[in-house]
Amino acid sequence: MCGIIAVTGVEDPLSTLLEGLELLEYRGYDSAGIALVTGEGDEAGLFRLRSAVRAQSIAELARLGAGAPRGRAGLGHTRWATHGAPTEENAHPHLDCTGRVAVVHNGIIENHRELAAKLDAAGHRRTSATDSEVVAHLVEAELETGADLLEAVRRSAAVLRGDYALAISYAGEPDTLVATRRTSPLIIGRTERAGVVASDIAAVLGTTRELYALGDGEIAVVRPGSLEVVDAAGEPVEPSPLRVAWGVQAARRDGYEDFMSKEIHEQPRALADTLLERVLPEGTTELEELAAFEDELRRVERVVVVACGSSFHAGEIGRLALERWAKLPATAEIASEFRYREPVLDDRTLVVAISQSGETVDTYHALAEAARRGARTMAITNVVDSLMAREADAVIYTRAGPEIGVASTKCHVAQIILFQVFALHLARLRGSLGEDELARLAREIEALPGLVAEALGRSDEYAAVAARLAEVNDVFFLGRNVGYPVALEGALKLKELAYVRAEAYAAGEMKHGPISLIDRHAVAVVVANRGALWPKLLANIEEIKARGATVVAVTDEGDEETGRLADHVLEVPATDELLAPVVSVVPLQVLAYSVAKARGNDVDRPRNLAKVVTVE
Ligand code: G6P
Repeated sequence: MCGIIAVTGVEDPLSTLLEGLELLEYRGYDSAGIALVTGEGDEAGLFRLRSAVRAQSIAELARLGAGAPRGRAGLGHTRWATHGAPTEENAHPHLDCTGRVAVVHNGIIENHRELAAKLDAAGHRRTSATDSEVVAHLVEAELETGADLLEAVRRSAAVLRGDYALAISYAGEPDTLVATRRTSPLIIGRTERAGVVASDIAAVLGTTRELYALGDGEIAVVRPGSLEVVDAAGEPVEPSPLRVAWGVQAARRDGYEDFMSKEIHEQPRALADTLLERVLPEGTTELEELAAFEDELRRVERVVVVACGSSFHAGEIGRLALERWAKLPATAEIASEFRYREPVLDDRTLVVAISQSGETVDTYHALAEAARRGARTMAITNVVDSLMAREADAVIYTRAGPEIGVASTKCHVAQIILFQVFALHLARLRGSLGEDELARLAREIEALPGLVAEALGRSDEYAAVAARLAEVNDVFFLGRNVGYPVALEGALKLKELAYVRAEAYAAGEMKHGPISLIDRHAVAVVVANRGALWPKLLANIEEIKARGATVVAVTDEGDEETGRLADHVLEVPATDELLAPVVSVVPLQVLAYSVAKARGNDVDRPRNLAKVVTVE
């Protein structure tokens, strides 16, 4: 969703902003804009460009920017419309009445109507339908009282309600950027001569490695080569450094046609990195990050997983492992529902938030709500020091590297495997599995990156099956037990990438309604790895076949019995029943990818979707 980049003290602010915007576009956007502070002294002013031609907006800015005056500092923004249509007037940066204050904003100002009414009454002229514009006018009003930019922003932020990340420029202080945030993240970077503010690590990797995470309510004053941070009361605070393991190369396509295929093929590496030194062959699990949390973990009597989208499906898989291995009651819940219920939690409940980005707003608030209600909390995320990582009592990181494609692939499998390691860890702490079983599972987990590589070696076979499905418009995904969340993920992938109506059902539920939709036009993709419920799945397949549907089955390699029943098979290497999702999701990713490509869709930026959902 919305992205912020702001720079000062760089050679060519316009091109640095444009590069930053390109690195932010993966989050999803429908308009973009920049503002440059130009000139000196009394001559200083702002130059603004905005474009709302959807995914071409950044290219359009680059074209329009060819005639731009040289800037000293500037702000850039990608907008994903929430308040106000995706038009040029609503694109950021927003200016005050004098045209000397520019603001970019991520998040939602909840009390914008009330603030706008006061500003309107005081004679301010607003030109957009956004909640964000009020900030420019609030700052303008404070500057008029003689405050400097820092003080004006501090006072303005004090009256805002909601979630926000803000970066502000003012022609009266041409080299200064002021930034502040509540809930929405902001990162500050510094070099000897420059300063940068961004909403996302990806946007700053090419500029500097000296990075700081701005704390909730803090205000940063960024000048060329200098950084000052104060708290909401204006008292100086020490900026908190941010550790980053990724290089800028990790956020590039590297010769692949798109990020999604790159990321699908990076899965064996993402899994191996996530496992590194965490599972030892004799079944010992080393989750160093949890060392200080082990006593708490021993006391846990129940686990609730909260997450959204593909992360929720990883949670559904993980909670089954917790039940079976650690013998703990465990449920997985959609974060946007959980946060508004009145969940009954106590200090023996562990609430685990799973999130690639660590900043999905619903998951973040679900985690915060759980903490408020006295639960212990843990985050599983891919982004070091992200909001959830900082909010939770404990955090374990997937090590998948940056994921740019909107639909999660390598992070999804890394989340599953890390949750499985965590479940094994709890099983060991609780003594709920014998040494032999722990060691067997550890060996099977260690083999998973290799099995995923083998599955990827069959990509052409999977794509060939996909080619036969390119025209279908209705697909059922079925599975049982741990295969059910895999079916959910397969259906989500096909929907979000190929725009094909796809529904997932627990196969045993078919008879309670959905089977009435099955006829010879229907296609059912059945996740049919061999497990305890496999014979029952075969019976489900027979029922569907008997009604004329085409059956595509994900099967263990060499499983001829299922192969004979199905019309098409997507074979994957076999593993333990509960570990199978890491491998069996691979053909479903390739299936969705291939159908989407055959339909000419943009797999990295599917329509209407955003990578990081920072608004409700
Ligand atoms: C968006 C993305 C999905 C992702 C979900 C949760 O909807 O398009 O791919 O699974 O958000 O994101 P998170 O960062 O919390 O894992």
